[in-house]
Parts: sequence; C-alpha cells; structure tokens
Amino acid sequence: MAYISPALNVMMAAARKAARPLVRDLGELENLQVSMKGPADFVSSADKRTERILIEELTRARPGYGFLGEESGTIEGKDKTHRFIIDPIDGTTNFLHGIPHFAISIGLEREGQLVSALVYNPATDEMFVAEKGHGAYLNSKRLRVAARKTLAGVLAATGFPFLGDEDKDFARMQAELAAVMPVTSGIRRMGAASLDLAYVAAGRYDAFWERGLAPWDVAAGILLVKEAQGVVSDLNGGPDMLEGGTILAANDALHPQMLKLIKAAGK
Ligand code: IPD
Ligand code: CA
Ligand code: CA
Repeated sequence: MAYISPALNVMMAAARKAARPLVRDLGELENLQVSMKGPADFVSSADKRTERILIEELTRARPGYGFLGEESGTIEGKDKTHRFIIDPIDGTTNFLHGIPHFAISIGLEREGQLVSALVYNPATDEMFVAEKGHGAYLNSKRLRVAARKTLAGVLAATGFPFLGDEDKDFARMQAELAAVMPVTSGIRRMGAASLDLAYVAAGRYDAFWERGLAPWDVAAGILLVKEAQGVVSDLNGGPDMLEGGTILAANDALHPQMLKLIKAAGK
C-alpha cells in the first residue's frame, strides 16, 4: 500500500474536489468544440476555477502555506517553510479539444525540497502520487521506471514548441528530433508535461525531455520519477530542472545516453 502522509491526503482530497467539475466540462467541450464561438473562454475560466478550488481546499487544511500557481503566481504564506506548486490544468490544449489527456498537478515543497507530489487525470481517474523516501504509486500500485538499457527499444516523450510559446526554438527541436528518431523505437508528444513525467515513473515511457517548461509543469513529476528510481536533470545534466525550464527524465542507464544525444543535437 502507498504511504500517504497527512499532507498528501489533503492534496488528494483537494484534487478530487477540483476535478469533479472538470469531468463535466469535458462533456460540454465536445459541444463547444464544434460551435463557432469556440471553447477558449470556457477553458480559461475552468483553469481559474480549478486553481481557486485547489487553493481554497489546501488553505483550509494547511493555513499559512505559500503557493506558486500558474494562474495566481506567488502567494506568500505565513509559514515560509512550505509551498504548494500548482498547475490546475496541465494539458490545456488537449482539454480545449476535448481530448482526455490533462491533469491537475500539485507538488509540495518543505524547506525548498519537494516532499509530496500528485498528478491526477480526472478523465481516466489515474492518480499518481509520491512521497519523498516512500516511493511513487499509481492508485495503489507501486511504480518503477522501465528497465530498458539501450536506446533501440526506447519510447521517448517530448513537447514541441508552438505558436505563442515563449521558448520558440523550432530549429533546435527539429535537430533534437532528428537525433533521437532514428535511434529509438518512437517519440510521443501527448501534450501534458506532468503526465509525461508520471508516465516515465510508471515505466510507460522510457524517457522524457522538453525545453521551455515552468515549475508548475514539472514540480510533482520530478518527485514521481525520483521516487520511482528514475533520474531527473536539466538538459545540461545539472539539478536546475524545477526553475531552469529544461528537463530530462529516464532510468539511470538511459539518462546519460539520452543526454549525450540531445546535447550533441543542440550544437
Ligand atoms: C503545457 C503542457 C505541454 C507543454 C507546454 C506546457 P499547459 O502546459 O505541459 O505538454 O509542452 O510547454 O505549457 O499550458 O497545458 O498547462
Ligand atoms: Ca502546464
Ligand atoms: Ca496549465
């Protein structure tokens, strides 16, 4: 059974509460998607509502903790040692298109260290959780990164830059794809970084890399991968993957091989 700390329990309850209207919205979006008005406003209000519910619920249970949320930015708490890092809907483009691949992502930091993590896809009811030092779980099943050691069998995930993306290095992305594609079994771009990391933790993907990410995209996923015995770094091989914007996650055998490939492609 998963070890669930009181704080993680609070995070799970908050995520389930915030997820309920999202499941209803998904049905509604299928209708809005084909209307002329389009669903963009609807989605941005769903984003804000989800973050508001999460902050309300978490604050009720843990008054004083601070927040870093995609919609609200930094909210200073009285308790300077704890901070929740929240992405209310990771995978907004999927959500907007009625594609059931998006997640609520919540990481909890204590003294600047990630200690609890949750990535929840309301559409599939998959709840990925991790507790520092106690492993990572999907629902109640213990997770471990894939065991594959050579690139040939690797299924890798990444994220492509897009219109309006701040880190619009399309040429570099193309160079990285050109390096990774011919030597691996395949690449996926599913559109939710938090779930990409959760899938690495679950051994579904062998590796995940991306540039231009924000702390709320990766906070929970970093702990999930680490607690599933995986290795996570930035794309220089350093430890700046939470704030630095780039990330590579894989098992210990594949991580150096992927890093070498991706670094060489950027030159
Ligand atoms: C996005 C997703 C996507 C990644 C983007 C993120 P959002 O988050 O994680 O997979 O490629 O860079 O911004 O906007 O859907 O919360
Ligand atoms: Ca996101
Ligand atoms: Ca988001």
